[in-house]
Amino acid sequence: MISKKLAKALSEQMGREFESAYIYLAMAGKAAEMNLMGASTWMQVQASEEMNHGMKFFKYLVDQGAETAFPAIAAPPVQYDTLTAIFRKTLEHERKVTKWITELMDQAVSEKDYATQIFLQWFITEQVEEEATAAEILKQLEMIGDKSSAVVMLDRHLGKRGEGKE
Ligand code: FEO
Repeated sequence: MISKKLAKALSEQMGREFESAYIYLAMAGKAAEMNLMGASTWMQVQASEEMNHGMKFFKYLVDQGAETAFPAIAAPPVQYDTLTAIFRKTLEHERKVTKWITELMDQAVSEKDYATQIFLQWFITEQVEEEATAAEILKQLEMIGDKSSAVVMLDRHLGKRGEGKE
């Protein structure tokens, strides 16, 4: 059984995961408008992963017999001029998510809630990967700058994410 306070915090994170999906879906739309269909696919896969993250929180709360709450989901930003701007925002967003997950873990530790600590462990590991992937793509984009032929090549590479497992 988890505390009411922790259940509320986990529901808030569930909402943020679904909000993340919305943020990445908006980026997928913007990338498609830029005719970068590979990046659009990459962002659609990312959005789908975020929905899975949201479902993990939901299922954990249900399994624990805890109360579920559903925070409002804000409209996502849509003002992006370049793919670099999109991935800069991605990295910034994932760093924020890492901070939220860390705060949840701090709370679970302070409440000696071992089951929730084990549940959150997966997200701690996932965030390392999320940040590393976004940072790597951003670095590549900053290196190639506005050279459109290089962006097209990178776009093709990003599109491969849709071919493998999610
Ligand atoms: Fe679910 Fe990208 O954090």
